[in-house]
Amino acid sequence: MLGGLQVKRRSEKFPLAKKTNLMVLHLQSLQDLNRAELKDFIARAMELKKERLAGVVHQHLAGKTVGLIFEKPSTRTRVSFESAMYGLGGQVIFLSGRDTQLARSEPLKDMARVMARYVDAMVVRTFGQEVVTELAAYSSVPVINALTDLHHPCQILSDIMTVIEKKGPIEKLKIAWVGDGNNMANSWIQAAGRIGFELILACPEGYDPNPEIMAAAQQEAVKPITLVRSPEEAVAQADVINVDVWASMGQEDEQKERLSIFQSYQVGRELLAKAPAEAIILHCLPAHRGEEITEEVLESDRCVAFDQAENKMHMHKAILERLIGGR
Ligand code: CP
Ligand code: NVA
Repeated sequence: MLGGLQVKRRSEKFPLAKKTNLMVLHLQSLQDLNRAELKDFIARAMELKKERLAGVVHQHLAGKTVGLIFEKPSTRTRVSFESAMYGLGGQVIFLSGRDTQLARSEPLKDMARVMARYVDAMVVRTFGQEVVTELAAYSSVPVINALTDLHHPCQILSDIMTVIEKKGPIEKLKIAWVGDGNNMANSWIQAAGRIGFELILACPEGYDPNPEIMAAAQQEAVKPITLVRSPEEAVAQADVINVDVWASMGQEDEQKERLSIFQSYQVGRELLAKAPAEAIILHCLPAHRGEEITEEVLESDRCVAFDQAENKMHMHKAILERLIGGR
């Protein structure tokens, strides 16, 4: 059993529903995982990566189906989840939000209960975190958060895997975040609190990460989690520098304003002159070259964005087999 994962007994959630012994494990945010589970997902994803290289064929999710419900665009997350599921012998059904009855206001609680009759897990990309929460509350199959405005937990799991591959145990490293205090930043903060590594975030005033997430993580942290304004301060002595778009999906109308506010947060030659030469650069992609990162840095050997993208598939396999297959 996954101790820290949110576990709901259907019979407790729905006192009037037919009683079953069904245990449902969801991944709504990294807060659903304890330290051992986080580390286990990373270790298993690394193992699955080696097995793929060795040509090992898996079939342990044969006969299982995952439904992907995506209300925002995606390249990496969609394809890596689909590829992960096929790679374990399973099948996927992709639904864009606008093609479902959600677009015509069908209640989420109905969608959750209907989908759970057809699929073995739901992978959801949407705007509000409350959508994921409500689907999970009513679903008798696992609901996996594939990005909301508040969190991007699966991405941070595979990013931590990439960091460990490149730099060794993350507990010994200083991780920097430069730019918007967005969904990615929030999930990094939760990971830092739970796993126990140093995290320093540089965000412009007015673009801080979620204060409740920050406070909760700081409370359980064994290493400092710090918010500063200066990108130079954040990258000094950093082992890893994280960068993401300045305007996330759904913030397109703020793009122009953010371009000028975030200008001094660009990860380029000038900022990297203030960082250790061996610091690596992470970008979850898609990247806006010439905005949050320069072409030169993105294409340099120090940037590991494409290894991050690959690791999403290995991590998604680890998540799917554990939540669906009960590994
Ligand atoms: N990094 C990431 O989530 O990419 P997509 O938006 O392409 O899925
Ligand atoms: N913060 C970005 C991440 C994209 C993968 C967004 O939400 O658009």
